[in-house]
Amino acid sequence: MWFEVQRDFETTDGAAGVDGVLATVTFEVDEPFLDSAGGGLRIVANYGVGVNNINLAAAERRGIVVANTPDVLTVTTAELTITLILSLLRRVAEGDRLIRRRESWKFQLEFMLGESLSGKTLGVVGRIGREVARLGAAFGATTIFAGKSDPIEPLLAAADVVTLHCPLTSQTRHLIDAEALARMKPTAVLVNTARGGIVDEAALVGALESGAIAGAALDVHEYEPTIAEGLLVMENVVLTPHLGSATLATREAMGMLAVDALRAVLLDGRLPENRVVPAPA
Ligand code: DGY
Repeated sequence: MWFEVQRDFETTDGAAGVDGVLATVTFEVDEPFLDSAGGGLRIVANYGVGVNNINLAAAERRGIVVANTPDVLTVTTAELTITLILSLLRRVAEGDRLIRRRESWKFQLEFMLGESLSGKTLGVVGRIGREVARLGAAFGATTIFAGKSDPIEPLLAAADVVTLHCPLTSQTRHLIDAEALARMKPTAVLVNTARGGIVDEAALVGALESGAIAGAALDVHEYEPTIAEGLLVMENVVLTPHLGSATLATREAMGMLAVDALRAVLLDGRLPENRVVPAPA
């Protein structure tokens, strides 16, 4: 079989009889799913850059190629990150909620004062963060980076805005836990447009409640689409529903990359450009 559009793998026979799968990032490509293909599956093309939904080692053991959609969503995701930072610092979502509650308000000199991004230090963790740094510079922010092998502690202690852009792996799960949050400045805020599991959400609620940090803006959530109750009631929290790559142009570009990968393996018999392999043990 070449292609079956929108097969509901959860209510059918898994991947039986399927040569290639185009998976969205919420679809779990685990060992039972891979086994359900019965040996015929040759490629899983993920419609997304993050591949934490796919058991890469299990796919490799079965000779199944995995591909993702890097780069084409970098600018879009960085734009959303800056939007969230500004929304949090300038209390945009909070002001919007206040007006929609029909609360009475009037212009006053000290009403809803926020913070400027200009002059702030962005602490960027991960690759898409390079673009966040470029955009941040236009707002007068400076950036410090932590790469894969850098310790994160100096960044946590120095940044006014800690913004996460790393993949979710066994190394980065709960990278931001209670200890990490305690290292941040009490005036600092946390922004996550990467993957929910990088942040220990219960610890984050605790840090916000105790005033250990000043706020958070989250596009991704540990138990997505469920959001921790504590976050829903805090005014210094901005929440969006996993919109990082959500523009039509970006989603089209991602779709084309994923289809290119399927074509490479299934029609041309070659490896796709955006092949993902498991990290060395
Ligand atoms: C990704 O690409 O990993 C995003 O989270 C979904 O677009």
